[in-house]
Amino acid sequence: MTESLRALLASGEYLSYAYAYPHKTTYRTLAPPVGLRELWAEEDRGALFLYVHVPFCEQRCGFCNLYTQVRPKSGVEARYVEAVERQAAVLSNVLSDTTGPARFARLAIGGGTPTFLGAALLERVFALARRLGAADVPTSIEVSPGTLDDDQLGVLVANRVTRVSVGVQSILPNETASVQRGQALSDVERVVRRLAAAVPVCNVDLIYGLPGQTAETLRRSIDHVLNLGANELYLYPLYVRPLTGLGRRDGWDDHRLALYRAGREHLLALGWAQGSMRMFQAPGSPEPRGAVYRCQDDGMVGLGAGARSYTRSLHYASPYAVSQGAIRAGIEAWMGQSDAEFSQARHGIRLGDEERRRRYVLLSLLEAGLDRAAYVARFGADVMAHLPELAEAVDVGLIVADEASLDLTEAGLERSDVLGHWLQSAAVRAARAGWEAA
Ligand SMILES: C[S@@+](CC[C@H](N)C(=O)[O-])C[C@H]1O[C@@H](n2cnc3c(N)ncnc32)[C@H](O)[C@@H]1O
Ligand code: SF4
Repeated sequence: MTESLRALLASGEYLSYAYAYPHKTTYRTLAPPVGLRELWAEEDRGALFLYVHVPFCEQRCGFCNLYTQVRPKSGVEARYVEAVERQAAVLSNVLSDTTGPARFARLAIGGGTPTFLGAALLERVFALARRLGAADVPTSIEVSPGTLDDDQLGVLVANRVTRVSVGVQSILPNETASVQRGQALSDVERVVRRLAAAVPVCNVDLIYGLPGQTAETLRRSIDHVLNLGANELYLYPLYVRPLTGLGRRDGWDDHRLALYRAGREHLLALGWAQGSMRMFQAPGSPEPRGAVYRCQDDGMVGLGAGARSYTRSLHYASPYAVSQGAIRAGIEAWMGQSDAEFSQARHGIRLGDEERRRRYVLLSLLEAGLDRAAYVARFGADVMAHLPELAEAVDVGLIVADEASLDLTEAGLERSDVLGHWLQSAAVRAARAGWEAA
């Protein structure tokens, strides 16, 4: 049964980011494993998205539950890159058919912190992506201010990276220290300035809801990184999740919402555009080049220990973990796989009709709005017939519906994560709860 959206909005309970569906914690062992050649043979491989995951960091920030190992022992990164090269070679073979190799429209290198890898290893990551066919496509990479040196910057420029994303969170040392993130403002300034001058899109991630943060200090962080040259911003609400280092505080939900509004108003007043709940772009930002990957579509090939891959019927990835011990063991197990194992999906979730529809609705709404005719063309009926509960979202003013489309209102935009949570199927919700309880 669907939860009441009104009740969910009123509860202010802990929720989570809604950016992928279904969540990784719904993945389970696939028995028997699924052969990737057969799986991908049914897919359109004309404009795939390649994602390479680098699961290493120089520190573990108190808010973060990403799949990443802190300061691995010497030699682990080199063995890891070797394993990703091997996996890429297996996939190159698996994804090819008589019509030729698969084509990639986009590349993203994420983490963890990809620039934790030294310049030579980083270059090898770009090279393996190129060999797989992701050459001269819009390319994005995540960077932390403490890890980028001149040689690595040279690798990014030589590989024509089109977007960098720098985790900054806040420019105030007391705010970053309050979430156990060691960060020197001088590093932030040096790295953002240099990247902004060298790469078309320079994104900075900031967090709102940090202990001690006010609307005024949030605006200071925003202004500071804008002055350094950032032309895209992600404003993330601080989420305190199970198994991460921070505790929950009272009155925090209202405070966070007030900060979201303050940050948003500030950016809109400066002429910035809002692309989603979190994403803001400077006036005149460059459009991505090449074929556009729409996240409602599938066709994502993930390389590396924590990367997800999406086909229409199956999403798969290695088992997810949060504790350092489990992540370390998971990365070792992932590197130890044979070529035969790399050619199979062994852990994931099958998507039936209901999950495909929900995924499409959720991601369309959160990004650019849902085109009703496109929905009918894809799923054979009107979206309100398939998901009549959407009427409640219209009633409470989070969505406006007309004959052509369904769009988030301003209230819907700021409540995107609540909507995303609410739109999950009962099966997905139960699987997530099962993982949390385990
Ligand atoms: C992979 S990191 C970015 C690159 C690099 N590792 C760094 O931290 O500088 C992903 C981003 O997600 C955001 N993030 C992750 N967990 C979060 C949480 N619990 N609350 C708020 N933001 C979070 C942070 O803004 C962070 O910069
Ligand atoms: S926020 Fe970035 S640096 Fe911090 S633990 Fe997460 S991935 Fe690593």
